[in-house]
Amino acid sequence: MAEYTTIRQLAEHVGQRVTLRGWLYNKRSSGKIHFLQVRDGTGLVQCVVVKSNVPEETFATSEALTQESSLVVEGTVRQDSRAPGGFEVDVERIERIQQAHDYPIALKEHGIDFLLDHRHLWIRVPRQRAILRIRAEIERAIQGFLDDRGFTRVDAPVLTPASCEDTTELFETRYFDDTAYLTQSGQLYMEAAAMALGKVYCFGPCFRAEKSKTRRHLIEFWMVEPEMAFVEHEENLRVQEALVEHVVQSVVDRCAPELELLGRDITRLERVRAPFARMTYDDAIRRLRDLGFDIAWGDDFGAPHETALAEQFDTPLFIERYPTQLKAFYMQPDPARPEVVLCADMLAPEGYGEIVGGSQRIHDYDLLKARFEEHKLPEETYGWYLDLRRYGSVPHSGFGLGLERTIAWICGLDHVREATLFPRMLYRMAP
Ligand code: 4AD
Ligand code: MG
Repeated sequence: MAEYTTIRQLAEHVGQRVTLRGWLYNKRSSGKIHFLQVRDGTGLVQCVVVKSNVPEETFATSEALTQESSLVVEGTVRQDSRAPGGFEVDVERIERIQQAHDYPIALKEHGIDFLLDHRHLWIRVPRQRAILRIRAEIERAIQGFLDDRGFTRVDAPVLTPASCEDTTELFETRYFDDTAYLTQSGQLYMEAAAMALGKVYCFGPCFRAEKSKTRRHLIEFWMVEPEMAFVEHEENLRVQEALVEHVVQSVVDRCAPELELLGRDITRLERVRAPFARMTYDDAIRRLRDLGFDIAWGDDFGAPHETALAEQFDTPLFIERYPTQLKAFYMQPDPARPEVVLCADMLAPEGYGEIVGGSQRIHDYDLLKARFEEHKLPEETYGWYLDLRRYGSVPHSGFGLGLERTIAWICGLDHVREATLFPRMLYRMAP
């Protein structure tokens, strides 16, 4: 059996004969020479077919190759500083696996709707490949960070009997004779798991039927949700900034070619170092009013507010201690000021908005029970959650980091839709 090399490995094979498998990305021809740009998922390389150096039928195969045809190429690797990627392959043999007919995506600008309709093919271009590679690196870095610090990955159910964040944003589905909802967040389950295992996390898809058509919203997105027993607000923030620093610096270290391909300003990412900037909600309101925004204490922030606040810093910005009435029922009130909660949102720099939401959780039975009554949450569905406060309750905290928003920020994307393989959005759930 032939041994195959990938384009990423070419540097180790200079002067040697290699066999590559891939697809024709693009082709130029000057009569007697064909320049085949071949991609294989690990990179792109120019393969040069010289008429006088190959059998007639090889040149004919090369002549007939169309964009995205699949092929096997055999040839000798040559270092060439002018070539993209630094190498070229002098072709000796070509085997066509399948000839592609009328590939719909030409190598020119297409409208976004056309590209999204052809997402199954659009992902083949180098830019999309770079984003998906960075997504994989971010996932790897997140898991590596948490696993190295004693967290256990447990994962939460996707089908749930009740809401975690907001009852108006639930996807409903039949569950035999009952109703189930697609999960919005695994947090409540992570709180149970933290009381069993100490430090835990889940990492999976979340669903929100939000009627938001913005560049930050997906209907289906991925979230990593660490939850820590015996951890209070301050330590919660320290874990978050260490995690985000680690993720960004891992991408800078390991995905430099991808970031360069995306045209990302790497110096901005290099400045993402803990400790991150911090501001209380109160100060944020004051700052926004100074900047001329018409906003009052008790109002929530919109995208323009978040952008205005975050763009003043190189690092992400924590906004701490929001008004209790703005946040979810489970957040721990600040003992010194019960009208605010021990929570923080982490806003990414450069206008990417909230990437992390987290808080210390209420651990007192009576207070949580009172919140259930205020929020009219039925004890049949949430009774188990109350049990956690009945049997060995301890202070605990956690957070959720949105994967696609983090990718959009690190990659410098205009919209989160490019940060996931097949985006689900308000007006799109195909292909
Ligand atoms: O702030 P959120 O709603 O927090 C929670 O769900 C908590 N239960 C998490 C926890 O403490 N375990 O969502 C957390 C993050 C947001 O900061 C954002 O990055 C992302 O999830 N997110 C979305 N990303 C894309 N599209 C959407 N529609 C999103 N909604 C939230
Ligand atoms: Mg939030």
